[in-house]
Amino acid sequence: MTDAVSVLKQWVNDSDNIVFFGGAGVSTESGIPDFRSVDGLYHQQWKYPPEMILSHSFFEKNPEEYYRFHRAKLVIDGVEPNRAHKKLAELEAAGKLRAVITQNIDGLHQAAGSKKVLELHGSILRAYCSRCGKPYPHEVINYGDGVPRCSCGGVIRPDIVLYEEPLDQDVMAEAIHYIRNAEILIIGGTSLNVYPAAGLIHYYKGKKLVLVNLSETPYDSYADLIIHEKIGEVFSKL
Ligand code: OAD
Repeated sequence: MTDAVSVLKQWVNDSDNIVFFGGAGVSTESGIPDFRSVDGLYHQQWKYPPEMILSHSFFEKNPEEYYRFHRAKLVIDGVEPNRAHKKLAELEAAGKLRAVITQNIDGLHQAAGSKKVLELHGSILRAYCSRCGKPYPHEVINYGDGVPRCSCGGVIRPDIVLYEEPLDQDVMAEAIHYIRNAEILIIGGTSLNVYPAAGLIHYYKGKKLVLVNLSETPYDSYADLIIHEKIGEVFSKL
């Protein structure tokens, strides 16, 4: 075990007020590609840049193309929570971890058993009509062909935050509350490039900020402990 992982293990053992904030790198060990790594979603060839497809204006103008991308790239069948998701659920059940704040839309934290999960960017496991708001089961959008439509005629959409859309302010406020009051904040598997989510780091006031990320982030110099290793491997040692 590296020195940094031993220190993290000690901190985790001694605390009952840990908060975790993560991103796509938490799910790569489950087989879901992240966005910005070399083999990530944003480096794959597609008719339009993925950032454009995942925007509000594109969804409005071109829902057919959006749904082709959504079903081909966002919906991945047969994925299971990995060691990082499972350890976080265990720490919560043991009364040590207060909340998981995630930018992921894959529902894997809940599948691992985590209860307090704040989904900053929503979830592809929920859907609703973009016109009348009626909720729909996710199968309606995630499987099949073409553009799913509500009985009112509106387009059914995933309950995710697209580019150009605001984050849910209640979820943000709760995330800020947990981070402000955390003894240990572990940030993992995120490039910390996308705002406003990345800005949450500024609300942490403690002295145990841990970054677990394969590559460097713009916030490495803020960390009290930094681990550039795979998060599932690191968490399996805690
Ligand atoms: P990114 O793809 O930007 O960053 C993922 C980070 O995880 C990278 O820095 C990788 O080095 C790291 N990583 C990958 N596998 C890892 C592993 N096994 N262990 C540790 N680190 C690993 O993904 P996010 O930061 O989540 O937003 O991206 C933020 C947002 O950008 C997403 O929520 C999405 C995207 O556009 C929307 O769609 C609104």
